[in-house]
Amino acid sequence: MRVLVVGGGGREHALCWALAASPLLTKLFCAPGNAGIAEVAECVAIGAEDIPSLVAFAKDKAIDLVVVGPEAPLTLGLADACAAAGLKCFGPSAAAARLEGSKTFTKEVADAAGAPTAAWARFTDASAARAYIHEKGAPIVVKADGLAAGKGVVVAATIAEAEAAIADIMEDRIHGAAGASVVIEECLVGEEISFFALCDGATALPLGAAQDHKRVGDGDTGPNTGGMGAYSPPPIFTEALQHDVMARIIRPVLAEMAGRGAPFKGVLFAGLMITAEGPKLIEFNVRFGDPECQVLMLRLKSDLLPALLAACDGELARFDLRWEALHAILVVMAAQGYPGSYAKGSEIHGLEAAGQVPGVQVFHAGTARREDGALIATGGRVLGISATGKTLREARDAAYAAVDLLDWPGGFCRRDIGWRALT
Ligand code: AMP
Ligand code: GLY
Repeated sequence: MRVLVVGGGGREHALCWALAASPLLTKLFCAPGNAGIAEVAECVAIGAEDIPSLVAFAKDKAIDLVVVGPEAPLTLGLADACAAAGLKCFGPSAAAARLEGSKTFTKEVADAAGAPTAAWARFTDASAARAYIHEKGAPIVVKADGLAAGKGVVVAATIAEAEAAIADIMEDRIHGAAGASVVIEECLVGEEISFFALCDGATALPLGAAQDHKRVGDGDTGPNTGGMGAYSPPPIFTEALQHDVMARIIRPVLAEMAGRGAPFKGVLFAGLMITAEGPKLIEFNVRFGDPECQVLMLRLKSDLLPALLAACDGELARFDLRWEALHAILVVMAAQGYPGSYAKGSEIHGLEAAGQVPGVQVFHAGTARREDGALIATGGRVLGISATGKTLREARDAAYAAVDLLDWPGGFCRRDIGWRALT
């Protein structure tokens, strides 16, 4: 099989790494890829959001399967464009990708499916939003309704903070058109878990759970990021909880989407809060998480390629996935300054030594090769130093041993990935 992976981050490196191990694979392309992906796939200089060029390339190279990493091409209709061109694509249609693109849509679907989620209301009028905030009190959560690059959510500890968020989002439009309406939600309290299910439109198979670390600083302090590290499996997410989430959230939502004429195919990523009353849905994403994907791929024993094909072909009811009895962890190395502004182009050394620590796997997120062959940082999140072990502690120690062998003064990482499970 000839496969094209779309995207160029750590998640796509992990997908390429897993696909490259499949005996079914004959040729792997990645658009646009990165320096690490180039070791397992042929990178193609096409942007992940350039739908016409991606489809033309896939047709031209007789691609058997297009695998989409990020959400942006999905919300732009890459899966639909592939279908129209007779290409098989792993990832939801634009209609089904609204589960990530619109918070109101997600809330409506969750309510119709009876899935447990935070109480909510939507406003297009700032004064009505303020009145609701006064009625409900703090803490309370204010969200821009549209896509705001993951930055449209304010968890307000006080009424004043919530009112300031209304001013920023609705009146000053700091996230542009995404702030034309807001969703205001009850603040859920508990531990956050990322849960993944492989879906074929009718059937869902659990891919398991991971815990992300969204804040930039140790002890979960500082601004939000795309994710500074992850581990899997999280001990608080028991078999019983997984069963509950599949039965009360994933399967009813899949049925609701099919009933709306937008069957969901691909990876459904449920952001969950494990509250005192049980798991509640915070949000959906329509793709693998990054860096959660990397730790899931490290634990996957089954061949990824036939699993993705079965999801595309509506055959998951007859499919089974097997997992290694291992713990996996990933520590993100980011460029100094991230998630604010950061420099690009600094040289990275020591990767060979880091990759030789037993159990360690290095995934690239934002790297490129300079003309002289030097490895340079090109993004905010640059590397994912991951490891597996018989225990989470063993995996954690291996990952940080590898981190300490890196020679990259331009980078930093959190030193406490996995702390909730380890303390
Ligand atoms: P999102 O951009 O939707 O992923 O939200 C960003 C973060 O805000 C989530 O990861 C949660 O930590 C937090 N959050 C969102 N909604 C809620 C809620 N209803 N209650 C508590 N925290 C929330
Ligand atoms: N790590 C969270 C996400 O991919 O959205």
